[in-house]
Amino acid sequence: MKKSKKFKKLKLKKAKAKKEYSEIKIKKSGFISAIFKYYKVYPVLYTIAITATILASVLTVIIPKVTNTFLTNGFDPNKIIQLTYILISLQVGSGILMYIRNLTGGLIGVKIEIEYRNKVLDQLLKVDMSYYETSKIGESLTKLISDTEIIGDNMQAIPLAFLSALVTFIGGIIVTFSINWQMSLIVLGIILIIAVAAIFSVQIIRILNYKWRKVYTEVNADVTDRISTIALIKSNATEESEMKRFLSEHKRYYGASKKTINFNSFAQALLVTLLTGINIVGLVTGLHFASKGIIEPAVVISFMLSVNTLIFPIIQSIQFLTNWARASTAILRINEILDVKPKIVDADKAIKVNSISGDIIFKNVNFRYKEGSPWILKDFDYTFKKGKSYAIVGATGVGKSTISKLLLRYYDPESGEILINNTNLKQLNLKSYLGHVGYIEQDPQILYGDFTENIRYTKQNATNAEIAAAAKKANLSDYIEELPDKYQTMLGERGMNLSGGQKQRVAIARVFLKNPELLILDEATSALDNIVEKEIQAQFNKLMVGRTSIVIAHRLSTIKNVDQILVLEKNRGLVQTGTFEELKVKEGHFKNLYQAGLMD
Ligand SMILES: Nc1ncnc2c1ncn2[C@@H]1O[C@H](COP(=O)(O)OP(=O)(O)OP(=O)(O)O)[C@@H](O)[C@H]1O
Ligand SMILES: [Mg+2]
Repeated sequence: MKKSKKFKKLKLKKAKAKKEYSEIKIKKSGFISAIFKYYKVYPVLYTIAITATILASVLTVIIPKVTNTFLTNGFDPNKIIQLTYILISLQVGSGILMYIRNLTGGLIGVKIEIEYRNKVLDQLLKVDMSYYETSKIGESLTKLISDTEIIGDNMQAIPLAFLSALVTFIGGIIVTFSINWQMSLIVLGIILIIAVAAIFSVQIIRILNYKWRKVYTEVNADVTDRISTIALIKSNATEESEMKRFLSEHKRYYGASKKTINFNSFAQALLVTLLTGINIVGLVTGLHFASKGIIEPAVVISFMLSVNTLIFPIIQSIQFLTNWARASTAILRINEILDVKPKIVDADKAIKVNSISGDIIFKNVNFRYKEGSPWILKDFDYTFKKGKSYAIVGATGVGKSTISKLLLRYYDPESGEILINNTNLKQLNLKSYLGHVGYIEQDPQILYGDFTENIRYTKQNATNAEIAAAAKKANLSDYIEELPDKYQTMLGERGMNLSGGQKQRVAIARVFLKNPELLILDEATSALDNIVEKEIQAQFNKLMVGRTSIVIAHRLSTIKNVDQILVLEKNRGLVQTGTFEELKVKEGHFKNLYQAGLMD
């Protein structure tokens, strides 16, 4: 009974491995075509590298040939000096060529690595917000940093190693055969058998490698995620258990590495032993032929030198086949990012927005984050009139922030339209539209940089005076002026050095600087104390004059003066609209909220 269970498990495991194997086999990495593509991009560098490689290989195979000419036709001891000079010159020449090849190859590698990085980065900037909800940032970073390096390195090393191996091997074969074809035939036969074994083992390495890198990426993602929540760890004193977690994650990594390294080492050792063993075959064959008088005994030396030149290209081939496996794994993994098709992209003839001149209309908008998940907005119909101010209120999770995210086009409605200037938002050039939108989110984002850099983010060409004016309006300048480095004070990663309220003020300063036509404030003042909030509210009230403003807030003070309040309710959508004075007395959700003291 137990046995059959075990057998079943084993069978299942085998089936899984088979499936993974065929999946990886089917996934084409396009590595070869990428090499050709990059040859066209860097023709000069590649040509220099290839020429140097071929010449270096030619020099390598010439050495035994030259030696052979000296050894046959009667050995003349007086020529030893001459032979030494020639051999040293050939060796030095091959050294110089190797330098040129490594230099140009290395440069090509870095250039391709940078290109791949930029491609991945560009894609990471373009993918939809939803991409980041399902993928771990650490995974993307590993692919961005480590896989691109592997690709860059191999994109030059593999074709060059291949050429070098090919030229050396063919040249070596010619030279070996020219010395004695019968002996060469024996050696060549053995080499071919080993080559077949090598190709087979590379296939296995490829699969093991894919799994290994997968675990490596997962571990990296986990570590990145944990380190970025350091405050949570510190506040709960969970350093020890986190460390344990890292250790166990790395154990998993070690396990996956062990398999690959084990097989790699075994395959390499076996193949290299077999290959160097060819020397023995060459020596024994040579001695046998010499003893029969078929060749001169001295020829055994040049034959051995020549056989030796055959071994190196094969060892090189095994290495580059293994690297090829690594590189195609890296390309497959990078393609997992590059193949993501962003849905939020500009339409073909997207209309440039010079100004948000009309109302903002939600027309029968239906939205949910994923198919099958609950609707957040159902048949949402509302017109935000130009120049008027609005507040959206409702319980937590009801969909207030979602409305602002739809306005920023982080997502598109599943059906219905959002009209800006009477045109569907999807038809607009997003960059030009967002240029007129000011947004303060619930959790403001701070860059690693100083105050100037951070505030300037919404208007890249802003002068220092403009930045200072914006900081003043955001009630931030008094604080900044007190600091020794003033506007050059670094804010730390994610604004570590700032209080919650200060972070909000930086975000507020950004909006004052941008001076947008549409203002979206998502709990923009929630982290400020009452007094400061009042002061900033007064500034906002000024800023809101004449521009369409949508304010999401819980506090009475923030919504009291708006032109219209929208009340959202879970699963029911928009349940009430009206001014503060109207809603306060009207039977309904808002009155309940107000009376329960939830609106101050
Ligand atoms: N990216 C997302 N993917 C899936 N569901 C999401 C996503 N963002 C928000 N939600 C869900 O959508 C609902 C509405 O979220 P939203 O952020 O709009 O609420 P909210 O009204 O702003 O709440 P709060 O007052 O707490 O800020 C919530 O139930 C939330 O869990
Ligand atoms: Mg919210």
